[in-house]
Amino acid sequence: MGNDGEPHKNKYEEIINLLKTNQLKNITFITGAGISTAAGIPDFRSSNGLFAQTQKKYNLSNPAQFFQIGLFYSHPEYFYDFCKNVEKQINSCKPTKAHLFQGFLCQKGLVRRIFTQNVDGLEIKAGCPKELCTFAHGRIDVAGCPECLRDYDIEELKKKIYNDEIAYCEKCKKPIKPKVVFYGEYLPQSYFDSFADITKTDCAIIMGTSLEVYPFNRLPCNVPNDSWRVLINLVKVSGAFFTTNRLKFDNEYKKDCFIQGYTDDVIQKIVDDCGWTNEFNEYCSKFK
Ligand code: APR
Repeated sequence: MGNDGEPHKNKYEEIINLLKTNQLKNITFITGAGISTAAGIPDFRSSNGLFAQTQKKYNLSNPAQFFQIGLFYSHPEYFYDFCKNVEKQINSCKPTKAHLFQGFLCQKGLVRRIFTQNVDGLEIKAGCPKELCTFAHGRIDVAGCPECLRDYDIEELKKKIYNDEIAYCEKCKKPIKPKVVFYGEYLPQSYFDSFADITKTDCAIIMGTSLEVYPFNRLPCNVPNDSWRVLINLVKVSGAFFTTNRLKFDNEYKKDCFIQGYTDDVIQKIVDDCGWTNEFNEYCSKFK
C-alpha cells in the first residue's frame, strides 16, 4: 500500500483542496528554464533551445559543449559574446506567472524554499525573498574567477565584455566570467547548505525542467515519501535515473501528480481553482 494506504483517485483535486485550505505550509519549488521561456528566454534542450543555438553558432561537436568550463578557458570570447546578447534580454524580461506564483505563495508564508537552476533572477523580480531562493547553477549578475573563486565586480566585467576585451583574474590569470555554473564546476555552497529543506517539504512543485542535470535532479528523490510531488511541465520527466525514488505518476498510491501544459497556463488554472484569481491578479499588478 501507499504511504497513507489510501488510493489518490484525483490527485489534482486533492492538491487544490490542500492549497486552498492552507494545509500545505512547507512548499518547495524545483524549477528550470521552462518557467522563463514565456518571458522570452529560451530553455536548453528544446529543439530551438540554447544547446541547439550555441552548437550551430560556434560549430561545436556536442550540444552541451558551450557550457563546459574547458571551452570557456580556451575560447572565453564565445561566452562573452553570448553574455552580451543574453544580458540585454534578461534585463528587459518580466517575471512569468510561474515566477509570480512563487512570490505569491511566499507572501502567504507557505514556501520553505525555491530551488532553481535558472540564473536570470526573475524570482527576485517576482517578489520572492532572496533568503528563500537557492540559485543552484549560480547567477548571471555576479562575477568571479572560475579557477580560484575570487569575486570580481560584475559592472567592471560588463565593461570589458562590451569592449570585446577578455578580463583575467589578477591572481591566477584565468579568464573571469559571470558566476553561472558550467559543466566541470562545483555548485555553490548555498545549494548544499539549503539541501536539507527538501527533506522537510510537504509539497514539492517541480516546474519547467528536464531534470537531466545531476546533482540538482536529486532533489525530487529526497522529498519525504508522504509528501506530494507535483510536476508542471510540457513533457513527463522522472528525475535522476539511478535513484529508486523517481517520480511515478501512474501509481495511484504515490503522491506524484503530473499536470501537463505550459507553466503559465497551469498556474492560472491552479490559481482559479483555488479561488485566488483576484488576489493573485492584485499581487501580479505590483510587478508589471
Ligand atoms: N511550460 C512548461 N514546460 C516547459 C515550457 C513551458 N512554457 N518551456 C519549456 N518547458 C519544458 C521543456 O519541455 C523541458 O522539459 O521545460 C524543460 C526545460 O528543460 P531544459 O531545457 O533541459 O532546461 P533545464 O531543466 O533548466 O536545464 C537544466 O541544464 O545545461 C544545464 O545548467 C543548465 O540549468 C541548466 C540545466
